[in-house]
Amino acid sequence: MLSSADGRLEVTLRAAPAMVPYGTTTRYALTYNGTAPGPTLRIRAGDRLVITLENALDADTNLHTHGLHVSPEGDADNIFVSVAPGERHTYTYDIPADHRSGLFWYHPHAHGTVAEQVAAGLAGAIVVIDDIDDGTEMAASIERLLVLSDPTVGTTGSVLAVTGAATMLGREGGDTLVNGVRAPDIASRAGTLERWRILNASASRYHRLALEGHRLHVIGSDGGRLAAPVAVDELMLAPGERAEVLVAPSTAGVHRLRALRYDRGGTMGGGGGMMGSGGTASADRTIATMTTVGAATAATPPGALAPAASMTLAAASATRTITLAMGGNGGGMGGGGMMGFTIDGRTFDGSRTDITARSGAVEEWTVRNVSPMDHPFHLHVWPFQVVGGAAHLGWKDTVNVPANSEVRIRIPFTDLTGRTVYHCHILDHEDLGMMGVIDVV
Ligand code: C2O
Ligand code: CU
Ligand code: CU
Repeated sequence: MLSSADGRLEVTLRAAPAMVPYGTTTRYALTYNGTAPGPTLRIRAGDRLVITLENALDADTNLHTHGLHVSPEGDADNIFVSVAPGERHTYTYDIPADHRSGLFWYHPHAHGTVAEQVAAGLAGAIVVIDDIDDGTEMAASIERLLVLSDPTVGTTGSVLAVTGAATMLGREGGDTLVNGVRAPDIASRAGTLERWRILNASASRYHRLALEGHRLHVIGSDGGRLAAPVAVDELMLAPGERAEVLVAPSTAGVHRLRALRYDRGGTMGGGGGMMGSGGTASADRTIATMTTVGAATAATPPGALAPAASMTLAAASATRTITLAMGGNGGGMGGGGMMGFTIDGRTFDGSRTDITARSGAVEEWTVRNVSPMDHPFHLHVWPFQVVGGAAHLGWKDTVNVPANSEVRIRIPFTDLTGRTVYHCHILDHEDLGMMGVIDVV
């Protein structure tokens, strides 16, 4: 973990292949500074974050700060920058003084190789903290970070090639790792609150989480803290989504953290099809355990966390409909050709601007998914709230749009201007073109 001091954090992230520890052996990974996930950056609102990215890979890469409300222009969160092998680029991010606290992350965004690079390990967390984090209630809890991933790498020094149907479904690895580790144990004490910040850094895998014998008290979503905790039995995180939860251990024993089966579609009408007979639904699995010692009354999660007023958005001044679709494209499903993954009928073209929005407007977007597979919709730079079609609390930047359904979101473009993207966060779909360009002027 690298923390800012006196309003500044300056780091170098070197993207390079490496063998990383894996149980009693090692595995191949693409790393930042030798680890996968990379270092956690811990900053505060108002800070200046300076990251020099060094590319020691054999392919172009770049850097995106997912969820941060920072400029998409110049040397800030500009995903149109490309860093060639052997080159470096310095990014400077000015975090607004009123930036919400929460869990964000960084990962490459070089169109065409994003899924491969993220799935091989290039991802890291950014934690923005505030005075509530420093307050006594929160400080008394045990804070942990859980970065979930399912690498697609060989055991001996390569990124696994993924082609055809696996690309269309979105690549998934065989193991779900927590902080790069297989099935770690979390040592907890009865009566002491656990506070987990959870990031789904998988390229495509959905994580539907449940902790045996415990409810999860959700206190934050993608873009910051909720007004009050919400207790749930299970928590779904699509690729790119985050949550902050409190866990109140009370009984001694080993409790399994389960990733439950979830069918995100794609079987295209039954088994045996081009997209694979099992679809994308894998069996329940245990991804970690929590071992609790002692006996005590469960600590009580705090009642209120943040002023509720900040969650209300003005009525929309403009509306749009965004359509996510899959369709045959040069051969279709059966002929060995790739499917087209489109937004509003088009695939990504970085030189084309698809949406021009006016700075100062609050827009309402209806995001329609007319395909038989779920797609997690993500917008850079400007967080939004979900106002219809699905229930999601708080500020979001990534929201799952289930197969054949729609979700309505409201986005305040009240500050920051510039050109950036919105896309499906199944990163293979993004690489296949399910991405558009927005310019806020
Ligand atoms: Cu995680 Cu375009 O972002
Ligand atoms: Cu992003
Ligand atoms: Cu998708």
